[in-house]
Amino acid sequence: MDPCQSWGGVVVLFCFLLPRAHPGPCRVSISPEEPTVEFGTSILFNCTSSCHNYSRLDWEVSVTKLGAQGPGWVSLDIPNVTDWRLELRCFGVYGQYRNVTTTTLHAYRLGSPQIKLEGDAVAGKEARVTCTVDAQVAPPDPPNLLLTLWGGRLPPSTHPGPSMGLSFTAQAEQHGQEVTCEATLQLRHRTVNASAATSLQVWAAPYDVRVWAPRTVFAAGDNLTVTCRAEGNPPPQLRWDLPTNASWELRDGGATVTVAAALREHGGTYRCLAENPYGTGTASINLLFQGSSRSPVVPVAVALAVVTVLAALAVLWWFYRSRGWNLLPAGSQPG
Ligand SMILES: *[C@@H]1O[C@H](CO)[C@@H](O)[C@H](O)[C@H]1NC(C)=O
Ligand SMILES: *[C@@H]1O[C@H](CO)[C@@H](O)[C@H](O)[C@H]1NC(C)=O
Ligand SMILES: *[C@@H]1O[C@H](CO)[C@@H](O)[C@H](O)[C@H]1NC(C)=O
Ligand SMILES: *[C@@H]1O[C@H](CO)[C@@H](O)[C@H](O)[C@H]1NC(C)=O
Ligand SMILES: *[C@@H]1O[C@H](CO)[C@@H](O)[C@H](O)[C@H]1NC(C)=O
Repeated sequence: MDPCQSWGGVVVLFCFLLPRAHPGPCRVSISPEEPTVEFGTSILFNCTSSCHNYSRLDWEVSVTKLGAQGPGWVSLDIPNVTDWRLELRCFGVYGQYRNVTTTTLHAYRLGSPQIKLEGDAVAGKEARVTCTVDAQVAPPDPPNLLLTLWGGRLPPSTHPGPSMGLSFTAQAEQHGQEVTCEATLQLRHRTVNASAATSLQVWAAPYDVRVWAPRTVFAAGDNLTVTCRAEGNPPPQLRWDLPTNASWELRDGGATVTVAAALREHGGTYRCLAENPYGTGTASINLLFQGSSRSPVVPVAVALAVVTVLAALAVLWWFYRSRGWNLLPAGSQPG
């Protein structure tokens, strides 16, 4: 009887090291062959024998042996991997010789990448985005990591290692855009990845400040409106610098100035001041007072007055002419 069979697990290793463990036609194999598993999770191994005439087919491991067996195979279930590196042996005993196969289970841990925008990103200024990831593999090797950052109008970039930073000039248009960081961990025959995304927050001083008015030349009594728009983040507060403080109203949250019935003093410069914590911007428009009303009543009245005066003059002229013709001969005849 083979002492290696009857003496139990501890002696088995010793027996394998002896030269008498000579080769035979039967083989055992472990699947998966190059196992990697996330630390703390479970894995199932299966050891199969190429021949079914073994007297023993079993695992030699330092963890509690859980599993099942069937004709030609024996499985090993590790419900919670708590070793970064674990040696696994499976052996088959075939009469006078035995076959053993060994594999090493490697555990890894790959966290979710953390993307951060350093400080306040302000449009037109230098900003920096960083990505870091926590990863661990069986010591002493450092994890073979690659970080890739893309999206949000940033130049895509890839860096080896557990952290990377990318400096860029912030643009107002980047606000709200999504940036993704993907970490790729290269294991022996496999890569695992994890990614995270975040929205960029870019503050912007007021820009594109515009002021416009449907009419820039007005007459007394006209309805005037002047509107201001400004971009910025946070949205700028608008203030007005007006030619007069006589009878105007603000509407549309301060974006529009209206004058129901314009007077001469409403002519002048309408200046809009846009402000937010990151700066100010300004734009203005000139409204010109035309003097006469555009109302058709006035020109008609003026024309009527002119016609009336001309008619009166004509009548007077005719009256004096005709009287003169009568008086002149009458006065000259006696003379
Ligand atoms: C192990 O492998 C054998 C042969 O491929 C198969 O029949 C058996 O179901 C496997 N056992 C487990 C637990 O996967
Ligand atoms: C087991 O079977 C194989 C062929 O399948 C044979 O070569 C070998 O001699 C057998 N071993 C024993 C101990 O019977
Ligand atoms: C990992 O990479 C694959 C292929 O590139 C991709 O389809 C998958 O979404 C990625 N997983 C994560 C979590 O990023
Ligand atoms: C209108 O503005 C003038 C100066 O431009 C100021 O002296 C006056 O008090 C203002 N009137 C009102 C009612 O605010
Ligand atoms: C002046 O015009 C604006 C829009 O052009 C209108 O909303 C407003 O009611 C008008 N006001 C008067 C007094 O007609």
